[in-house]
Amino acid sequence: MPARSGSLRVPMRLGALASLTLAVAACGGPSADLTDLAGNTGKREAVSKEYGDLLQGTTAEETARHTIGRTEFVRVRTPATGLGPVMTGAACLFCHDAPPAEGGTNQRLETRFGRRNEDGSFDPLLSLGGPMLQDQSVGSVNGVTWTPEKVPAEANVVAQRRTTPLFGLGLVDATADATFLAIAAWQKAHDPAATGRPAMVPEIGASALRVGRFGWKAALPTLLQFNADAFLNEVGITTPRFPDENCPQGNCASLAQNPSPGVNDPDGSALAQVNDFVRFLGPPPRGAPGSGSAMFAAIGCSFCHVQTLVTAPNASGAFDRVAYHPFSDFLLHDMGSLGDGIDQGDAKGAEMRTQPLWGVAQQTRLLHDGRARTVADAILAHDGQGKRARDRFAALSDSERRALLAFLDTL
Ligand code: HEC
Ligand code: HEC
Repeated sequence: MPARSGSLRVPMRLGALASLTLAVAACGGPSADLTDLAGNTGKREAVSKEYGDLLQGTTAEETARHTIGRTEFVRVRTPATGLGPVMTGAACLFCHDAPPAEGGTNQRLETRFGRRNEDGSFDPLLSLGGPMLQDQSVGSVNGVTWTPEKVPAEANVVAQRRTTPLFGLGLVDATADATFLAIAAWQKAHDPAATGRPAMVPEIGASALRVGRFGWKAALPTLLQFNADAFLNEVGITTPRFPDENCPQGNCASLAQNPSPGVNDPDGSALAQVNDFVRFLGPPPRGAPGSGSAMFAAIGCSFCHVQTLVTAPNASGAFDRVAYHPFSDFLLHDMGSLGDGIDQGDAKGAEMRTQPLWGVAQQTRLLHDGRARTVADAILAHDGQGKRARDRFAALSDSERRALLAFLDTL
């Protein structure tokens, strides 16, 4: 807290604030960073020195898998090796590249679209090429010309999505569903109005729904499934998980001319390699927190941007009960006007996943559509369940605000 915190101009009438502050105080001390709100205690903390570091605790065999996986992550596909026919890029690296290291983001935006019907239902316009716009194509191959998709006139919702960095996501993958459910229960007990909702989504090959945690809408439950989805929807590579090619602009008949028909990665080995590259990427490095840390909790940011999570017991030491600091609950929150209007997975139009704040200092564009260029602007755009924290941020004095922003810079 800054010296003048006695004059912290924050509305104090909210009971939730008091319990939040208490919760923070109760977890004070060196063990704070090892225990999560579900009561799990990590055996150790995940720490990185540099962006792109390997996750600590990996075996020689896992390290080798990460290294081999990189080859596939940076590999530029061609129509002969399965690219397209429509896609957003020819390699994962085209969007998840440096800075600050491979696996990061160059902030490239993608487009999603659909139609909100009068009865409130959402149509992803599958038959017209929705819900994702493949804005590139392989061009002319074997005398057939493929054109990039266009947003059809029928769409009345069009949203941009910013490329997110991938550092540390293996830890998120290794976190138990029960942990996210427990965080939602904790939130409900402390501030029902701002409580997040676990996205309950299908996992391929499993009958029970799982807690979605990946993507801006938390629509996918596992890293492998997200990566498989990216193979298909970003690069146009079919895998055993997603064997059916995307129909260009919804025209499935055109696939009779597909330059690389059949499953492009028939045994899923390329997918497994990419998954190993992403899974073993360490979290972003952290700086010393400074005084803004208490402010972050006091004005309610940490309610959604949860500091510590702990992975479940795992056969791999790299993922076994490790405490990490994503500054996210990975739950859906109704963000009011900040929502992107798209229904996806379990998420409704106004609901967005709390974006992790680790590595936020490296982001040159912020929020799902990249509309904000500064962290302060991103905070000021919070609406809906995030509006109260936004208003408290807006009410901070200059020095309090500086302390808070300096803290965010260290995550
Ligand atoms: C054209 C740019 C582009 C390409 C190419 C691309 N991605 Fe992404 N990636 C994105 C965007 C945009 C998002 C956010 C998607 C969303 O939630 O709507 C994303 C999100 C992700 C996420 C989830 C991150 C999170 O925060 O939960 C993973 C994992 C991922 N991508 C992996 C890959 C892999 C693997 C490849 C290659 C097969 C790939 N991506 C290719 C743009 C791209
Ligand atoms: C009710 C939950 C909630 C609260 C409280 C909240 N946030 Fe967020 N925050 C979100 C969600 C959800 C997003 C993603 C929104 C989007 O892009 O559509 C987000 C995004 C952000 C981003 C952009 C990150 C990026 O990489 O694009 C920043 C920065 C941020 N929040 C900081 C804060 C700060 C600081 C506070 C406290 C003043 C705060 N948030 C309070 C839910 C919350």
